[in-house]
Amino acid sequence: MGGGTTVWFTGLPSAGKTTIADLVGRRLAEQGRPVEVLDGDVVRTHLSKGLGFSKADRDENIRRIGYVAGLLTRHGVIAVVSAISPYRAVRDEVRAAVGGVGDFVEVYVATDLATCRARDVKGLYAKHARGELRALTGVDDPYEPPLAAELVLHTTGEGPEESAARVLALLGSRTAPVLTGGAGGSCSEAVAPRSPGGAGGSWSEAIAPRSPGGAGGSWSEAVASRWTGSGP
Ligand SMILES: Nc1ncnc2c1ncn2[C@@H]1O[C@H](COP(=O)(O)OP(=O)(O)O)[C@@H](O)[C@H]1O
Ligand SMILES: [Mg+2]
Repeated sequence: MGGGTTVWFTGLPSAGKTTIADLVGRRLAEQGRPVEVLDGDVVRTHLSKGLGFSKADRDENIRRIGYVAGLLTRHGVIAVVSAISPYRAVRDEVRAAVGGVGDFVEVYVATDLATCRARDVKGLYAKHARGELRALTGVDDPYEPPLAAELVLHTTGEGPEESAARVLALLGSRTAPVLTGGAGGSCSEAVAPRSPGGAGGSWSEAIAPRSPGGAGGSWSEAVASRWTGSGP
């Protein structure tokens, strides 16, 4: 098929998703791989700006990230996603959609709540304890752990580099052309031009013309149909 890969990190706040995803992204870039990191916190400043933390908004956020990851994956890129993504059903929805255009690797950063609370990188647990925040994942909002993640990381017994190395080793062992490169030669064919033209265009302009539209179609169909060329 010649697609890329989506590497999807899920886990509680402060589990280590961003740290490991950034390391993985950096290492892959150093190896010359086409890679894009999509972090939940960053995405919420543009693509998902205005969305909140209700179940509906959390699911919508994940669908949007999944849609973009699918587009990248379709073009042979390794999309590295770090987002709490607390709900199993929508993660599986993304898995199914991306799986139609490339590889999907779910990485469960399985850091326990007590450790996450002690790390509290963004002070969310403290805020919650002070009563300044509600619906914090893992505390008073659900987190549904993956049942069959490709990789489970236990970050209490190892450092970020070690965790990242595990992810890279797994990616290296998978057979997606973009990762194995060379033999077979479909890698370069799979990688479409990275800049979608439109001199000076913003990212939204750049993406918009490529959106498969198709009134009424679901986003997962849209990702898939662009790859196969079979419109609704
Ligand atoms: N093995 C590990 N992997 C990732 N982070 C780790 C690990 N061990 C300790 N940490 C620390 O845990 C924190 C995780 O923060 P962050 O990556 O922002 O979490 P998240 O994105 O899941 O909210 C960082 O301060 C990081 O240095
Ligand atoms: Mg993070």
